[in-house]
Amino acid sequence: MKKFYPESKVEIQGITAKFYDKILSYLSFGKYDAFIKKAISLMEIQVDDKILDFGAGTGKNAMLMKNYLSEEGEILGLEISDLMIEQFKAKTKNIKNIDVQNLRIDQPLTLEKKYDKVFISFVFHGFPFEIQKNIIKNAFNALKDDGEFIILDFNEFITDKTPLYFRIPFKIIECKYAFEYVEKDWKKILRDFGFVHFQEKLFFQNHLRLLKAKKR
Ligand SMILES: C[S@@+](CC[C@H](N)C(=O)[O-])C[C@H]1O[C@@H](n2cnc3c(N)ncnc32)[C@H](O)[C@@H]1O
Repeated sequence: MKKFYPESKVEIQGITAKFYDKILSYLSFGKYDAFIKKAISLMEIQVDDKILDFGAGTGKNAMLMKNYLSEEGEILGLEISDLMIEQFKAKTKNIKNIDVQNLRIDQPLTLEKKYDKVFISFVFHGFPFEIQKNIIKNAFNALKDDGEFIILDFNEFITDKTPLYFRIPFKIIECKYAFEYVEKDWKKILRDFGFVHFQEKLFFQNHLRLLKAKKR
């Protein structure tokens, strides 16, 4: 599939998509699993939450979020990679309240329902700023009035001031959109789109952040 944003590294394809979970685990020296479990535990998921997962990947996060839901809760993953969708479906095949749809989050979305939470994990940093604005609008429109947009991604920092052990892999692995992303004031930007009441948790020496923003 042709990339919409050739310089982006979140439009994951081929072997990287096929072995995505394993690659993350190796690259993080096995620390990723504990980190993502902790981050999801901090989402404060309610048993009947309806959750939209933007760029849902292999379904690993959906399976972790499901642990907090009753049968009243629901998760809908939006994803564009066939290889990711295949893995998502395989992982969640016997679970009625989890589904995935092949839908782009960077273009105007029309969904049937409103959601309690829109979760976006390690996807947002990989787009040009104008496109990130579309994603914010999609999240805002998809949420119920008391809903929450939850971004798990890099924190804000000056790349050249980060320690070498972080800076070198970050510069090798990440794309130019990520370098721009980390230097922006996202609470201010989200506020301009109508979001309020921010809460954040930081991880890995403050290089990663779970940022929650309320719609009202
Ligand atoms: C870095 S992965 C993160 C996957 C997952 N959120 C996680 O935390 O494991 C980025 C994901 O976003 C998906 N993606 C990229 N662009 C997208 C778009 N425009 N609409 C929907 N999904 C997209 C990719 O296919 C990939 O699965």
